[in-house]
Parts: sequence; structure tokens; C-alpha cells
Amino acid sequence: MPILADRMSQLGTETAFEVLARAKALEAQGRSIINLGIGQPDFSTPPHIVEAAVKALRDGHHGYTPANGILPLRQAVAADIHRRLGCEVNPDHVLVVPGGKVTMFFAIMMFGQPGAEILYPNPGFPIYESVIKYSGATPVAIPLLEKNGFAFDADDVLSKITPRTRLIIINSPANPTGGVVPKAQIEKLVRGLDKHPHVALMSDEIYGQMTYDGREHATLLAYPSLRDRLILLDGWSKTYAMTGWRLGYSVWPAALIEPATRLAINCHSCVNAPTQFAGIAALEGPQDDVHKMVAAFAERRKVIVSELNAIPGFSCVEPGGAFYAFPNITRTRLSSRQLEAKLLDEGGVATLSGTSFGAHGEGYLRFSYANSIENIREAMRRIRACLAPASKKGAA
Ligand SMILES: Cc1ncc(COP(=O)(O)O)c(C=O)c1O
Repeated sequence: MPILADRMSQLGTETAFEVLARAKALEAQGRSIINLGIGQPDFSTPPHIVEAAVKALRDGHHGYTPANGILPLRQAVAADIHRRLGCEVNPDHVLVVPGGKVTMFFAIMMFGQPGAEILYPNPGFPIYESVIKYSGATPVAIPLLEKNGFAFDADDVLSKITPRTRLIIINSPANPTGGVVPKAQIEKLVRGLDKHPHVALMSDEIYGQMTYDGREHATLLAYPSLRDRLILLDGWSKTYAMTGWRLGYSVWPAALIEPATRLAINCHSCVNAPTQFAGIAALEGPQDDVHKMVAAFAERRKVIVSELNAIPGFSCVEPGGAFYAFPNITRTRLSSRQLEAKLLDEGGVATLSGTSFGAHGEGYLRFSYANSIENIREAMRRIRACLAPASKKGAA
């Protein structure tokens, strides 16, 4: 029997992929499943982006590229950040990577080691906690509470910093809650961090273009006092419906771009060339498809929130961004895991237990509303039927 390194026992996973596999297995048995579990847009990549990749292949872009990404793509990233967020970024500080996840792996491995502490949102994207533990560092949860609209409280975050803290991870708009951190809390955090110059920050802004009801995305890039220790995580997966292409980018401080690029060289060499050309077309081409997709999510969000609030035992605060709703399900008297299993097995609706996103997710379920309004309404009908008392079953 091969003997694994001890740290492998610390590596977690993303249960979304397990639920997806279980949903597919049930479908293979002939069951009808509505999947509100998986976090990816139900739109196709816009055709002009696909064409750019095809053209790149036809033009002979078949070889390695520079490890940090081709210069026109890094320039397009810098121009896009300037256009959307009004912040200056040096293209030499941009690292093109295969998906958003790679940035978090690199940032956490760069700072994490036994004895170090890393603060991360909980409930939050599960890979943060998984990789922190894998690195040997101690994960310190920043609990995100429903009463705060699932935004962090800056004083709470600052109170958790110790001399051992190496990195703070924040994510707004957030997975799994849809929470958007108000600008006032971000500014308070930034001011407080002046007293802790040894602490780096990774801001996961992959849902930055998905905010609703006039909420504005507040980027951490806007604060000069942080620029020498801020890692920005973003990418194409969600904004351009490109999850399967595996394309993301990060912006690093001047002092960290070299070690980040060294990690890339050790890990994947570079992102495949045609995908990088697709990335340029996405950023420089028309943005109409992005706006259409976000408008569709905005409409579905209204539908799912009101439908969830009509389910006995559920209550759902309005998510400000991303494409997730995170209802409180404690009044069903089932644990998140039990309810996830019941809705999938008996109701034919795939969701994700709040605990898939950390211990503070108990009492919640995550619904992705990247699905049609028709499917969302049918899923809610199935859930009401599945949870109806036995005497009322069939009436729902
Ligand atoms: C908050 C957050 N960050 C990063 C990612 C990773 O994105 P990618 O698929 O580009 O690796 C996800 C994907 O679900 C996410 O929800």
C-alpha cells in the first residue's frame, strides 16, 4: 500500500462535485432532477469568445506561452480593471492562471505554514479552509452572520488578528450566501489594517460584476495603503460563462509576482494558448451578453427569494450579489445535511447543505439560481410537496 504524505489527510474537497455526481446517478436511473446545486452560469460562452479561441488554434498558437500569460491578455486585464473599477494595474503584476481556484491555492501556500494563522470567511468557498489546513496553517474562521446580511463585521475581523496572522481572505459578493460587504465595513477594515502591516490580504472578487438593486461592488484594489500586500482574485468563469475553459487571473503586489510566477512554472507552466486569446476577446469585445446574463439572474433572484420565503420552515434574506440564495432552514427541524439528502432523494431537487461551506453554514441550504425560472418554480413546488406533512401530501 503506498504511503501518502501526512498533509494529504488535511486536504478537504468541494462537495458540489459529489452532489453533482449523485444527481447524475439518479438521472441515469430515470429520475427527474432539477439541479440548483452547481455554481455555474446556465448560459453558453458568447460566440465571439469561442471564435477567438478557434481562430487562435487555426493561426497556429499551439505552443507554450510565457508562464505569466501573453502580454496582450495581461494588458487587456489591466485595461478592463481600469474601465470597470477606475484602478491602475501594471500588466506585469498580472498573473494569468487556469481558473480562479489556482490563485487561492498559490496565495495560501505562499503564506501558510505550521504556526501561521489564516483568517477566512465561514460559511465560505470550501477550498479556502481545505488549502489552509493542507498548508499546515491554522484556519481562523470569520463567521458570516445572517443578521449582518452575511457580510463580515470589520471590528470582528480585526479582533482576530494576532502576531501569527499571515493572510486574511475576503470574498464579496460571496459564495455561498450572496452577501455583499458594505463599503463602510471595507473602509473600516482597511483603516484597521494600517496597524497590522505584517498581514497580507486576498480579495476574491470573482462575482464582482454580479450585484443587484443598485449595490456597487467595492474593490479592495481602490486602497493605496493595501497595494503592497493585496492579492486580487478574479477570472472569466462566472462573468463570461467560461467555467470549463479554466481561465482566471490575479493581481499581485510587486514583491510577490515573482514567487507567484515561480509557483505557476512549478505547477502548470502556462494557461493553454487558445484560451488566452478567448480571454482577450471576452474583455475587449461587446459586454452585452454579460449584461443580459446578470439581468436574467436579477429576475430569477426575485422569484427564488419570494418562493423560498413561501416554503414553511424556510426564511431567506435578499442576497445582494452572485447567483446564490442561502435560506435559513432551522425551522424545518432537519439538519442542513439531512435536508439536502431528503430534497435530492425524495424531491428530485439538488441543493447544497450550508455545512458544505463550513461549520457556520449549519441551519442553511445553498440554492444556485443559475437555472431557468420555470425550473426554479418547479423545484420550489417539489420542495413544498416533499416537506408537506404526510396528511397533506398530494395536496401540495
Ligand atoms: C468564491 C469563488 N471563488 C473562486 C471560485 C473558483 O472559480 P474557478 O472555477 O474559476 O476556479 C469559485 C467557484 O465557484 C467561487 O465561488
